[in-house]
Amino acid sequence: MLTSVLKINPDNFTGEELEEACNILRNGGLVAFPTETVYGLGGDALNPAASSKIYEAKGRPSDNPLIVHIADMAGLYDVAHGITDNGQKLAKAFWPGPLTMIFKKKDIVPLSTTGGLSTVAVRMPGHAVARELIRRSGIYIAAPSANISGRPSPTKAEHVIEDLSGRIDMVIDGGSVGIGIESTIVDVSSEETVILRPGYITKDMIKQVTGSVSTDPAVDGKVLTAPKAPGMKYRHYAPKGQLFIIEGTAGMVVCKINSLVYEKEKEGYKTAVIATDETKDKYQCGIVKSLGPARCENSIAASLYNILREMDYLDVQYIYSESFGDDILGGAVMNRLLKAASYNIIRV
Ligand code: TXA
Ligand code: MG
Repeated sequence: MLTSVLKINPDNFTGEELEEACNILRNGGLVAFPTETVYGLGGDALNPAASSKIYEAKGRPSDNPLIVHIADMAGLYDVAHGITDNGQKLAKAFWPGPLTMIFKKKDIVPLSTTGGLSTVAVRMPGHAVARELIRRSGIYIAAPSANISGRPSPTKAEHVIEDLSGRIDMVIDGGSVGIGIESTIVDVSSEETVILRPGYITKDMIKQVTGSVSTDPAVDGKVLTAPKAPGMKYRHYAPKGQLFIIEGTAGMVVCKINSLVYEKEKEGYKTAVIATDETKDKYQCGIVKSLGPARCENSIAASLYNILREMDYLDVQYIYSESFGDDILGGAVMNRLLKAASYNIIRV
């Protein structure tokens, strides 16, 4: 299959440019498109053949459900029922935007889209191109992140092309995304509101709207129960090299990483360090990559997947990363980094 690439400027387009993409989607084909979080791999959410194609293109396990993307509130009532008060309030506060909510599904949503679950994940993205694509195509778009399963999510069209060229019909290139990590997922299918995946919309922001909210204990990987978001159990976001996170006071972390890198380089391995602007000059050997200024949480989130992919381009075998606190996007960055590192933490 030949994958066509459509370049579009999200700040200056009429919508007509998307006509071919809409036709592909309406006919059961696959189109990758930018959202404000990461690029999504879109197909018709109500067409079981299209969702099967998504799983196949990504190499994704079929029990890992897809998010249904809608353009307006009417879409929510088409695909979900029993919309809770908290669901409504959160939609009002954060949609369109980087929040996915789990509701009870209506029968029109095929089980192939929800991985066999009786619930459905719904998101109204804020990105202008994503919204226009949904609106103009007249369908609801099932879209997981547009990467090969297990690789870092794509934050630019080049990442999508790298992973999925030849496997999908089209990539809409709208440049780099704004946020760079996936949406927050919150289960509002019952009265208790539970975060299943941390993201740009933090626990505090949700709590301000709903009054109370808990986090699925499986999110931080410390318990062995099955996570409620099936995708969270798979190794994710992983670079090819072995990634370790070094935790401790700033000075100790730098010292430890320097000695680890020195050892590995001496043994002949290609090594790299993931640091911040403040610390990057303190590392003496290995490849050093900065995620940006430590206090600029948006820049750290936006650079993470890009840098993990760079590690692969450079064939790095050992990667040592500084750790990031719960204050960086409510722990969302650390959550992704921990998963990329398969929870390999070195404490100093
Ligand atoms: O930011 C995002 O959410 C991006 C963009 C493209 O919208 N999409 C995305 O999709 O990250 P994906 O498929 O990579 O992650 C979806 C997550 C998976 O962990 C999946 O298990 C969970 O959502 N999920 C989907 N439906 C669910 C459901 N009914 N119940 C619980 N978790 C669900
Ligand atoms: Mg994903």
